[in-house]
Amino acid sequence: MALLDEQSLLERVLAHVEGGTTGLSDGVWREPVVHYTSPERLKSELALFRTLPLAVCPAASLPDAGSYLARDIAGVPILIVRGQDRTVRAFRNACRHRGAQLAEGAGCKKTIVCPYHAWTYGLDGRLRGVPDEHGFPGLNKDDHGLVPVSAFERYGLIFVNIEGGEGPSPVLDQMGEIIGPAFKVISDTVREVPANWKLIAEGFLEGYHIRHTHPETFFPRQYDNTNVIEHFGSNNRITYPYRVVETLKDKPVGQWVARNVVTSVYHLFPNVMISTHPASIGISVFEPMATDRTRVHSFIVSDMTDTEKGRYVLEKSKELIAAAKAEDRFVVTANQKGIKSGANTHLTFGLFEGAIRHFHQSLAEAIGEP
Ligand code: FES
Ligand SMILES: [Fe+2]
Repeated sequence: MALLDEQSLLERVLAHVEGGTTGLSDGVWREPVVHYTSPERLKSELALFRTLPLAVCPAASLPDAGSYLARDIAGVPILIVRGQDRTVRAFRNACRHRGAQLAEGAGCKKTIVCPYHAWTYGLDGRLRGVPDEHGFPGLNKDDHGLVPVSAFERYGLIFVNIEGGEGPSPVLDQMGEIIGPAFKVISDTVREVPANWKLIAEGFLEGYHIRHTHPETFFPRQYDNTNVIEHFGSNNRITYPYRVVETLKDKPVGQWVARNVVTSVYHLFPNVMISTHPASIGISVFEPMATDRTRVHSFIVSDMTDTEKGRYVLEKSKELIAAAKAEDRFVVTANQKGIKSGANTHLTFGLFEGAIRHFHQSLAEAIGEP
């Protein structure tokens, strides 16, 4: 399915607002609870992750030659580096001498020096220097460069594909350059959430919980259970209108702009959510650590940092989003506890929760489950 253009999307949104309706899926979905609790299922999911192009961070996270980011991706330690030629490359994060991890966190370096015995690599991964090299007679330095994995910069994001060589699916081209060059990283945080990664993802994918989970944050500004849901490939876009969307009716259709009147959440299958807000864009990357534990990497990027007014609006919006995210974490943690209670063999997703249905269907299909 193709994504609607901006005006058609807003027309669909207004039709739901006026009619008191929302996007409905074809049927109710029942997801087995074992898919949230089984270590074997998690193993299959991570094996799948390693064969897919995964969005890792905004391209602006690596702004300069020598900028690097070390991160476990689908359980594999990976080092991503922007080279002197400004190309982004990724490597398995291990020295070719005795395998020490080369870098942690993020920063900027001219060369990559192993902390153990100081074997030194260029930003392109080539082995450049070995202290007291006479101790390694016959060592071919060309054969001992860092082990590369595929990395791509597209749509303002950096993708890594650990085992597959493919770049992002062309179906994502419909998003356009979702994070343009004017966007700067204003926040980069990591938090461990005691919940299965799919439970966290589900919270981004329906507006049925706006009134009850976000009574003082989103609900005064947004409608409850009023969404446009679109699938593109294995991905989703779910659009949440703000109440101010009704002011569009006073303007000619040609002047309609989505940015200040809706939030769209792009679910980049399987584990990344990109949420557009009036003052910023949020990127959330879920790294499963266990069936009931997920490391959530969150980035906020904004193009409104250049003026005092922009920074003020951004600060207010950040506070609101942080408060709403805390509400989401509370319910998701409760969700994980309920999963452990043994009350349910399946979780039930209704007609309003079609983006989640598409997520689970796509995941089962990609894993090769019947
Ligand atoms: S393990 Fe890296 S230099 Fe020895
Ligand atoms: Fe929420």
